[in-house]
Amino acid sequence: MLTRRALLEMAAVSAAAAAVPPADPPFTLPKLPYAYDALEPYIDAQTMQIHHDKHHQAYVDNLNKAVAAAPELAGMSVDDLLLRLDTLPAAVRTAVRNQGGGHANHSLFWETLAPAGKGGKPGGRLASAINQSFGGTDGLVTKMQSTALAVFGSGWAWLSLDAANRLSLDPASNQDSPLLAARRPLLGIDVWEHAYYLKYQNRRGDYLKAIPNVINWDFVTARFEKLAG
Ligand SMILES: [Fe+2]
Repeated sequence: MLTRRALLEMAAVSAAAAAVPPADPPFTLPKLPYAYDALEPYIDAQTMQIHHDKHHQAYVDNLNKAVAAAPELAGMSVDDLLLRLDTLPAAVRTAVRNQGGGHANHSLFWETLAPAGKGGKPGGRLASAINQSFGGTDGLVTKMQSTALAVFGSGWAWLSLDAANRLSLDPASNQDSPLLAARRPLLGIDVWEHAYYLKYQNRRGDYLKAIPNVINWDFVTARFEKLAG
């Protein structure tokens, strides 16, 4: 039979447990920096809402689940996790690659878009680098479109900075981040069907023709300045 003292101790333990709030998950869905319909008619509002609120949220939720099972990863940013993927516990590597990649890729993607006419154009050292590597912005855009069009299945076309601060344009499968190859992403085009199917159905090429109208070059220019040092 439990003594009064034991009952009081049990009650105290229960009260202490109840007083500890559940820990906030480490990763959260960033807010879109514009309204769902801000990129119309090039990207429709319903696509933006589902893409951000459902698809991106799922990457965040699944990443949180994965890292909850590996407390030694607490405090690491998603970029850190991706850069150090090979050193992570084997049990979480696939989830970090896919879900962490999805979170990182989409967080950047929203920032690199802007309403038509509001995105400016490449400036400063980014403009010089684009001229040198692609003969100008039109050359870069055309190459990004063809790279994105050629992605088999789901993936991205990425403009990124390599270790020598040179521009690199590469396709990626699934949610593989350029960070996995030690490249720092500047601008990505999402060619998962969830990015365009509601409006463009199977016409990925039409979506790719529309995308250049809503690129936030001012953001990409500022990001280049920050990353190139
Ligand atoms: Fe996406």
